[in-house]
Amino acid sequence: MTSNLGLIGLGTMGKSLARNIASRGFSLSLWNRTTEKINEFVDEFPDENFYAPQSFEDFVESIERPRRIILMVPAGDPTADLIKKLAPILDKDDAIMDGGNAIYKVTEIYQKQLEEKGIHLLGVGISGGEEGALKGPSIMPGGPVEAWEEFEEVLTKIAAEDFSGKACVSHMGKGGAGHYVKMVHNGIEYAEMQMLAEAYQMLKELYKLSHNEIADIFEKWSEGRMASYLTDISVDVLRKKEDGKELLDLILDKAKNKGTGVWTTQEALRLGVPSPTIAGAVFMRGFSNSLEERKKLDGLYPRLEQSPEMTLSEFTEHLEKALFATRLANFEQGFAILRAADKEMHYGLNFSEITRIWQGGCIIRSAILKDMNLAFSQKVQNLYFTEFAHTALVECQKSWKLIVNTAVKHSIPMLSISGGLSHFEASRRGRSSANFIQGLRDRFGSHTYERIDQEGSFHSEW
Ligand code: 6PG
Repeated sequence: MTSNLGLIGLGTMGKSLARNIASRGFSLSLWNRTTEKINEFVDEFPDENFYAPQSFEDFVESIERPRRIILMVPAGDPTADLIKKLAPILDKDDAIMDGGNAIYKVTEIYQKQLEEKGIHLLGVGISGGEEGALKGPSIMPGGPVEAWEEFEEVLTKIAAEDFSGKACVSHMGKGGAGHYVKMVHNGIEYAEMQMLAEAYQMLKELYKLSHNEIADIFEKWSEGRMASYLTDISVDVLRKKEDGKELLDLILDKAKNKGTGVWTTQEALRLGVPSPTIAGAVFMRGFSNSLEERKKLDGLYPRLEQSPEMTLSEFTEHLEKALFATRLANFEQGFAILRAADKEMHYGLNFSEITRIWQGGCIIRSAILKDMNLAFSQKVQNLYFTEFAHTALVECQKSWKLIVNTAVKHSIPMLSISGGLSHFEASRRGRSSANFIQGLRDRFGSHTYERIDQEGSFHSEW
């Protein structure tokens, strides 16, 4: 008896994915660094078609040929160790799928090493957290077509559904394309969370609303164009009580991260793609971690606080518009990074497919992806050129400015919403201030400049 697939890594995501795969009729051999966990898990789900091998060799032997092995272990050393261990014992045409949040460059190195032995590696971004992995995640695979063909059936069966009921999985492209798209998904995720946090802070500090009152506002937003998974779960977070106390009052304001937002920002910088909303969200996590310093400085500089100048219902209307506009600017920044990466690395990304598979299962799933998908199906490149974004931005831009203005007046930091606004303003400027930068560069370093009235490169005598 052999199993259809092998799965290594019984952490939270690995366990959920294993159960999801088994529920679709596949048999699975399981492996984990701490072997006791394998039997515990198999005993917990005796009705599923799981096999607990006696040894790593038994695990490898127990999988039908060509083998399909799924790695659900943390990126970095644990993945590296497994690739090293598997490479010499697997056969030509076997396929490995790395479902961790690996950095795309590392995926590409492993792909090259394994391809020399005829082993195919699919680098797969999986979004949706524990619940998504169990009930249906959004899946972003990248790598050789041979690897995709090996895993296509199982991934299609376990994925979430898009707005029209199709599986939220699609071959993103060659090399590390899958992990690249997932990395940018996470950059967008960081910014989405940050802009919602900024809205929360404004409502709490300006209008002194309770968490329940703020939850009512988010709930209303989630019924309209701001509908998204993150808007929905914000309501749960705002309403959560533990031992009779509001959980948000008890959670320390220090946000951790596992690196994907930083990588997205590093990529944006490397490629020269402006992404202030995403970078702002990463920087705000940085500020959150300097808690002691923040506390000391809070006492040193009195905040300039003024009473709000409009009614709460007027304000929430403006805030909804500012958030919607920021969401557009944020996604456009993500797409711009993807466009630049695609141009450089020739991944062959399909933006219509990306916006389709992000419609279900993933953390950034939102109603707006319907319009984006339609626009990209019509070969639009930059979101700001689409009719739907144009209509929305013309409608929302006044409110967007008003919200940023209000935040400045009331000493509320706002790197994501204001970063989105600056992105929009800078993107649509026919003439920027870079002439001034060029003048300075030539003045101090003879770096030369181009002119609007003549071709060529110029240097002035200063
Ligand atoms: C997802 C999430 C997932 C992970 C986050 C958390 O799409 O399911 O993005 O991959 O939980 O990346 O990231 P941080 O710990 O960096 O916030």
